[in-house]
Amino acid sequence: MGQSGDSKGRRGASGDAPAPEAAQPGDARPDAAGLSTEEAADEIASLSQLIEAANIAYHQNDAPEITDAEYDSAKRRLTALEAAHPALASPESPTTKVGAPAKEGFGKIRHAQRMMSLENAFAASEIDEFIARIRSFLGLAPDAPLEFTAEPKIDGLSLSLRYENGRLVHAATRGDGEIGENVTENARQIADIPQNVTGAPELLEVRGEVYMTHADFAALNAGEGARVFANPRNAAAGSLRQLDPAITAARPLRFFAYGWGELSAPLSDTQMGSVNQLKTLGFPTNELTTLCRDKADLLRVWERIEAQRSTLGYDIDGVVYKVNDLALQRRLGFRSTTPRWAIAHKFPAETAWTRLTGIEIQVGRTGALSPVARLEPVTVGGVTVSNATLHNEDYIAGRDNTGRALRGGRDLRIGDMVRIYRAGDVIPKIDDVDLAQRPEGAQKFSFPETCPECGSAAIREPGDAVRRCTGGMACPAQAVEKLKHFVSRGAFDIAGLGAKQIEAFYHDAALPIRKPGDIFTLEARDQAGLARLENREGWGKISARNLFAAIDARREIPLETLIGALGIRHVGEQSARLLARHYGDWPSFEAAMEAADPETGAEAWADLLAIDGVGEVLARSVALAFQQPAEREVIDDLVRHLHVLPARQPATDASPIAGKTLVFTGTLEQMSRAEAKARAEALGAKVAGSVSARTDLVIAGPGAGSKGKKALELGIETIDEAQWLALIS
Ligand code: IVH
Repeated sequence: MGQSGDSKGRRGASGDAPAPEAAQPGDARPDAAGLSTEEAADEIASLSQLIEAANIAYHQNDAPEITDAEYDSAKRRLTALEAAHPALASPESPTTKVGAPAKEGFGKIRHAQRMMSLENAFAASEIDEFIARIRSFLGLAPDAPLEFTAEPKIDGLSLSLRYENGRLVHAATRGDGEIGENVTENARQIADIPQNVTGAPELLEVRGEVYMTHADFAALNAGEGARVFANPRNAAAGSLRQLDPAITAARPLRFFAYGWGELSAPLSDTQMGSVNQLKTLGFPTNELTTLCRDKADLLRVWERIEAQRSTLGYDIDGVVYKVNDLALQRRLGFRSTTPRWAIAHKFPAETAWTRLTGIEIQVGRTGALSPVARLEPVTVGGVTVSNATLHNEDYIAGRDNTGRALRGGRDLRIGDMVRIYRAGDVIPKIDDVDLAQRPEGAQKFSFPETCPECGSAAIREPGDAVRRCTGGMACPAQAVEKLKHFVSRGAFDIAGLGAKQIEAFYHDAALPIRKPGDIFTLEARDQAGLARLENREGWGKISARNLFAAIDARREIPLETLIGALGIRHVGEQSARLLARHYGDWPSFEAAMEAADPETGAEAWADLLAIDGVGEVLARSVALAFQQPAEREVIDDLVRHLHVLPARQPATDASPIAGKTLVFTGTLEQMSRAEAKARAEALGAKVAGSVSARTDLVIAGPGAGSKGKKALELGIETIDEAQWLALIS
């Protein structure tokens, strides 16, 4: 029985297993701080798993699975997420360990066209949303035909093969999507991959998945003196990424083609036709690939493939749906890492029962009190789990944040037997409790109403699912987490001043860092004092000098970096960039935030809300940071040590609208608002929701109304849809 947790949890499409949210539902990878606790927890779990697997693969198996770039980017993102959601940072996090040093070996190949990832869906309702999004983006009528292909999602590693004049010239792993590793010689050892193709376009890039069958995997692992791989995917990746192609040759690797990159001529005008053409050219394609007319068709194929899963002989972890018409795929285009025209519909979660041994409360950067479940270690889907997120106090009490019952209203108590589930690469969650096994005398968990770190009152604002410590910078947990965020990679990124050093300096009596401004007085205080840094354990003359130099180098800081580094709730990298671009420089930003008040500074408030991507919650939070004396003092104390550079605007030479602020109004007939906005942003423009003196161009369709009038009054250039199409063509 399983209600999956809070209101965002969803059940699997099969109806009997809960499933968490899609990993990347947004149009871009969301800011670490902008994610909900649950979303952040999901991503932290998947990144931790990725990094840990990469470390084991590298250190223990000598068979790296991911590129250095992928590794670095995962670690950077994980650091940012942990800084933004400290309650979720586990003491065993890979960010607390020294990662695998870069391994020299494979050359790099820049992909002619980026290799993308896929958005994930778990519940059937997410497939409805996927289809509705596409229809709305394309402006299709509800009854207009829209075909999809459905095919297994192979659990291997992706590979791009480039053929010139029919000859395989190179093969590259995905890497970070832009640059992959040159594994050409290894790919040549795979029998499924043709060396030469006849009848192919002059230039052909074929993309697909390298994998290993269950039988081959078992034989490989059983082989004498064999290195034992955890699963076929690891074995496939480890085998492809061998510096010696002879080793790859001895490993039974297979390949399925499912896509393409650069082409000198199209393979077909449909996804299905192209896959068939790849088959004709001699590439193995998956025979379960099916053309579907609607959602019902897709779900039928999903169920059929899931039923066949255990007999296929190779690992799959879901079904991929793709828009069949390539002209529509082109119009739909890509978000930052995923196409809008495809989605991976994953199979349901794997579950296991274990005992809840404790509930720990962690206090994060924004004061959130986050409960974490400590569990008797248990294996779920091949991974040992000993912690799980408990979200918030309502979740423990057996209700969601609207007050509805979760788990039939059963609360969680220390000592309970609980059911853990994982779906995809996400952090484990608890979705059920067995009351029959509840130990006698088990007490209801009483959620603290004071901060366990500083003793300040911990309160819940109306509408907030989370209880928060009110101590602000006076709470050591919040202060330390804010400081860690401040020095982290996406923020001030001060070499030699990481999380560990921040912890130490925070508690240092002689040379403390208790607020960001203290970082910039560190050298002066060091020189004035007796207990010099260079004489401390772990420090020397050179490292101290390097630290001071690294700090000095950050006295000059771009506006967007500074705004993001302040650690204001709801303000992540993306929103910091929006704010910085809108206000341009620090004095304007600071003055605007000070003034932005719905009552007393209506104009500044309206101007803030008019920024596309800035909602009321963010606006309130950022304005408050400048209006609350205690927070403001911390900011002022910092900024006096800095030279804040004006915001970087997007390159202006790329397109006629780059760097401009556009407003769409009235009805567009050739494309939906979403498509128009995506096109404008892809060309470097900002899209605002209302017309103001900052607007550069208004695109007005029929029925433009008050915005059209305002544009006229302000003398802002206004064009119609035909002119807009001409402008972007
Ligand atoms: S299409 C632009 N189709 O899944 C779309 N990917 O989670 C690119 N994968 O990186 C991917 N089976 O390595 C596609 N039938 C399939 C797939 C598939 C496995 C992998 C691929 C991709 C990853 C995304």
